[in-house]
Amino acid sequence: MIEHFNLIRGLHIIAVIAWMSGLLYLPRLYVYHTRATPGSEMDETFKLMELKLLRIIINPAMILVFILGGTLVWIDLERLGPHFWIAPWMLTKIGALVFLSAWHGFLAGSRRAFAEGRNKRSERFWRMTNELPFIAAIVIVLAVTTKFGG
Ligand code: HEM
Repeated sequence: MIEHFNLIRGLHIIAVIAWMSGLLYLPRLYVYHTRATPGSEMDETFKLMELKLLRIIINPAMILVFILGGTLVWIDLERLGPHFWIAPWMLTKIGALVFLSAWHGFLAGSRRAFAEGRNKRSERFWRMTNELPFIAAIVIVLAVTTKFGG
């Protein structure tokens, strides 16, 4: 498996790109969805777009990120030693990952709220929070590429 490390790392990054693009796009749909009258054609169109984005892109991409990332952890335990996962860069990555996963769950819950016509959050809320996953991604990428603190 260790000889395929670079290939798996590349596939991991591709899955991350798909996951991140979905996490950044979905709240943009929510921004405009807040303007649609419940039951209107526009409301129904947004509901369908949001459902497909989550089911076809965001959820499968997250599963792939975790499977491929888990494989890399397994290889790194051998490559870098059993304590690599408590290195500062890895703990930083895990922290930002917990946030990204929670944000994913929050967005999925919000999709259900929109689908059932009970969204209470404003256009402003969705605009203000839209960049949060991008900030987490910057933290993660720089943590893994610099491997600060060993
Ligand atoms: C369950 C989730 C994840 C796990 C278990 C995981 C684990 C790993 C591991 C072990 C490596 C190899 C590190 C090395 O020794 O070089 C890696 C590489 C990488 N990961 Fe993740 N990762 C996850 C999610 C993410 C996310 C969400 C991002 C970005 C937003 C990300 C970005 C990267 C990048 C850019 C690399 C390649 C950098 C490098 O190896 O120099 N990962 N990941």
